[in-house]
Amino acid sequence: MSSETLIIQAGLSERSRKSRLPARLDLLQSLSGLFLALFMWGHMFFVASILLGKDAMWTITKFFEGYHFFGKAYPWLVSVVVAVVIAVFVVHAMLAVRKFPINYRQFRVFRAHAKSMRHGDTTLWMWQVYSGFAMFFLASAHLYQMLVWPQDIGPFGSGGRMWVDGLWPFYLVLLLLVEFHGSIGLYRLAVKWCWPNCSREFLKKLKWGITAFFLVLGLATLGAYMKIGYDYQENYKNGERYTPTWAQQAEESAK
Ligand code: HEM
Repeated sequence: MSSETLIIQAGLSERSRKSRLPARLDLLQSLSGLFLALFMWGHMFFVASILLGKDAMWTITKFFEGYHFFGKAYPWLVSVVVAVVIAVFVVHAMLAVRKFPINYRQFRVFRAHAKSMRHGDTTLWMWQVYSGFAMFFLASAHLYQMLVWPQDIGPFGSGGRMWVDGLWPFYLVLLLLVEFHGSIGLYRLAVKWCWPNCSREFLKKLKWGITAFFLVLGLATLGAYMKIGYDYQENYKNGERYTPTWAQQAEESAK
């Protein structure tokens, strides 16, 4: 093989060719981010069903396990949804890595640049990088647990995980990361695809409003799981699954 062919194959040719690939990858990154952010909004509401009581959370959990359609719960259905989310998460992370500073020197240059500019959106981007990096690890651990043990989702299982297994600090950090990362991401998407038709000031206010709403909802949810985990720690340790009130009543009256 000639050296010229080698150079061309390695993409080192001087000949500059216009490529649509970077724009396509950018669009894919935006779309996967949008999917994940909207998924998270849904996720926060589903998980917050515990605020309406153990029966409400049990009903939502069983809905995703197909109980209301097939008359029997299939937790692996949840694993299928988790697998799809993992796939999008991996694609999003791979595309995001392209934009990370790749060595300490680049990182220092970027940080110095951001500090000297004092430009709010550039600083937000930096936080986006930090929180995204931390989520590689924390979100992966959570997703793995949901993928492999979907049958443990429920009022006793989820509450016990938070309190008895002591995972609440983990969830607290993940909650902060995902709320900031998600809302900054959506704000950046709006600026990128809607600007100049939307006012940046308005978008910023909306972003902080959404972050505050989901943080309050998330913290209340976390507290509710911790309380249930504390109140029913023996049930969790005995491997008991929650029985909804109507089934408890049916059992009582059958006696
Ligand atoms: C289909 C995928 C997912 C499922 C089925 C799922 C399910 C759950 C469940 C059942 C809980 C309650 C606690 C527990 O049982 O451990 C929970 C909590 C939580 N999940 Fe997920 N999750 C998924 C994806 C994600 C992702 C991608 C993230 C973030 C990157 C995330 C972040 C959180 C956070 C922060 C909490 C705590 C919520 C709070 O305190 O309000 N989850 N999740």
